[in-house]
Parts: sequence; C-alpha cells; structure tokens
Amino acid sequence: MVKIDPSEITPEHLYLSRRKFIKAAGAAAAGALALAACGRQDVPEEQATSEQQGAPSPTPEPMQPAATPDVTKPPATTPEVGLTPQASEDELGSPLTSYAAINTYNNYYEFSFGKEEVAAIAKGFESRPWTVEVGGLVANPKTYSLDDLLQFTQEERIYRMRCVEAWSMVIPWLGFPLGDLLREVEPTSEAKYLRFETLLDPARMPGQRSPGLDWPYVEGLRLDEAMHDLTILATGLYGKPLLPQTGAPIRLVVPWKYGFKSIKSIVKIDLVAEMPTSLWITQSPAEYGFYANVNPNVPHPRWSQATERRIGKAGRVKTLMFNGYGEEVSSLYEGMDLATWF
Ligand code: MTE
Repeated sequence: MVKIDPSEITPEHLYLSRRKFIKAAGAAAAGALALAACGRQDVPEEQATSEQQGAPSPTPEPMQPAATPDVTKPPATTPEVGLTPQASEDELGSPLTSYAAINTYNNYYEFSFGKEEVAAIAKGFESRPWTVEVGGLVANPKTYSLDDLLQFTQEERIYRMRCVEAWSMVIPWLGFPLGDLLREVEPTSEAKYLRFETLLDPARMPGQRSPGLDWPYVEGLRLDEAMHDLTILATGLYGKPLLPQTGAPIRLVVPWKYGFKSIKSIVKIDLVAEMPTSLWITQSPAEYGFYANVNPNVPHPRWSQATERRIGKAGRVKTLMFNGYGEEVSSLYEGMDLATWF
C-alpha cells in the first residue's frame, strides 16, 4: 500500500489550487455559463451515440451500447476511500466524479472492450513487483522499481479527463510531475520525443490475446509537453493506489489531451529523436493524431467534439479548448495549425 501523509499533499495542493484558481477565474465564468446552457435536447444524434460507436474502436462493428454506470452504489470490489481529497471540485467548480464511477467505467482494452466489465476482468492483476525502464537518448538510463517511483514527492492534482469519445470525469489524482523523473535521467540534446509502452503480457491481459490491435499500447509526447508541470505520472487517486482498471501501478496523465494519450500500466519510457507512432495512429491514422489536444472546434470524423457527457451528471457540458488548460499550455503550440495537427 502506498502511504501518503496528507500533510505532505496539502501544501502543494493548496498551492496548485490557488495558482489555477487565479489563472482560471475568467474561464470559470464561461464554464458556469456553459453548464447552464447545455441540455440533452441540444445534443445532435451523432454526438449522443459516439460512445456506442465505441471510439477509439479497433473494429468496424459498433460496440455494445455502454449504459451510464450507476454511480450511486459502489461495486462490492471497491474499497473504502482512505484519504479524502482536499477539495470537492476542480478549479472551474465542477464536482469530483465519484470514486465508484472512476473505477467502474473504464477504457482498458488489454482487459476488455466493455467499459463496465474491465474492473471485474482486471481484478487480481498483480502490479507488484513492477519496473519502469527509462532509456534511449538520456545520459543516465535507469530502471525504476515502484518503490523508487514512490520516492518522488506525490501530490494531489484535480484534473478533468476528457475522453475522445465525448465523455469526461473530474479526478483527484495522486502522482508526481514527469519532469521530476526526466531531470534525473537527463535527456540528451538529440532527444525530442518520449515513447511510452504498456506491459505486454497476454497471459495476464486477456485483451492482448484477441486480434485487432497491434499490442503493446504505445503513446508519445513531445519532450516539452512531457516536461510541462501539468503532465504527471499518476500512482493513485482519491488518496489510494490505482486499481488495475485505472492503470496500476503507474500511468500517464496529460489533462489537456484526449484520454487515450494517458497510457496505463507503463513499463517502458524511451527518449527518442523521431515522433513515435502510437497504437491508435497505427490503427486509424485518419481518426487519431499524435497531438490529440482537446479541441471542440475539430470534430472527430464520426462525431462532434463540441460537448461532452460528464459521468455521473445529467446533460452535457461544453468542451473547452485544451480541456480548459489553454492558459497553461497554448504557448506549446504557437504557430501550429491546431486543426491540421490533430
Ligand atoms: N492505456 C492502455 N494501456 N490501454 C487502454 O486501453 N485507454 C485509454 C487511456 N489509456 C487505454 C489506456 C483511453 S481511450 C482512455 S479514455 C483512458 O485511458 C481511460 O482511463 P480510465 O479508464 O481511467 O478512465
């Protein structure tokens, strides 16, 4: 079990909340308006069915309709929440998604394509011992054990997560800035990108035994995106270690990008010179790009990205550019045509 003393988390959390609160004051007003203005009747038909169509979908067949989980009753497998987050909402005033919903509505194709059965199928997945090998174009390659990774100061970060399928959650993550780890391994001047890999182990991950996707799950970031303070490696949420379904023992969280960038159960991080090819780019290059920045103005080829369904809440909310983190990250993309670089 990860032991995190709340006293370690609070100062950083308060610091972050204050900083984001000040920066987001304008956006908060806009966000409140959006919440009030959005109703289910405004939702175009294709928007309402994007999740049923199962994106990112490895098969041409639509997946089974995914019903909204019942977030009022936690499943029997969900342990009691140990550490209460320091706030009950994000900096835009959106309430946290419940612990039960975060852990029972999951995209984790290594276990299942059915969001609501991932938790049951992944139950018992052993994530200790675990190592993450960090190498490539670095001065100090290192293989980190989970205990090594937990030595980095763990912070609480409340982030919105916007899935490309047009649903979203507000999650109180525990983790540490990826930049802290990168400073330790010292990328060389040739390193321009990071390439992340999930565990490849069909014996333990039944989804990897079915044809369809080119395993292992691979994702990538540009080095400056990876060094950005908002980018974290998460080890827990709601003050508890990650469960298998949310990517135990360690996953990436990049809150201004669509959720598929936030690769789970990472075993390898390579610093590389060329833009890596992700699993989704290999699968469907017309639908999933490398950048995948949340952008309400660029529809997915099969549905609009203008609004999203906040899990556990009725109706839809407007999707914000960069998922509401534009003030912090838009400078990373200066001069780029964000409609083309999707
Ligand atoms: N990482 C791996 N290895 N396998 C996956 O199937 N799904 C991605 C991302 N990371 C996925 C993954 C997608 S599409 C989303 S939206 C988020 O994880 C979902 O995270 P959650 O299940 O914790 O909500």
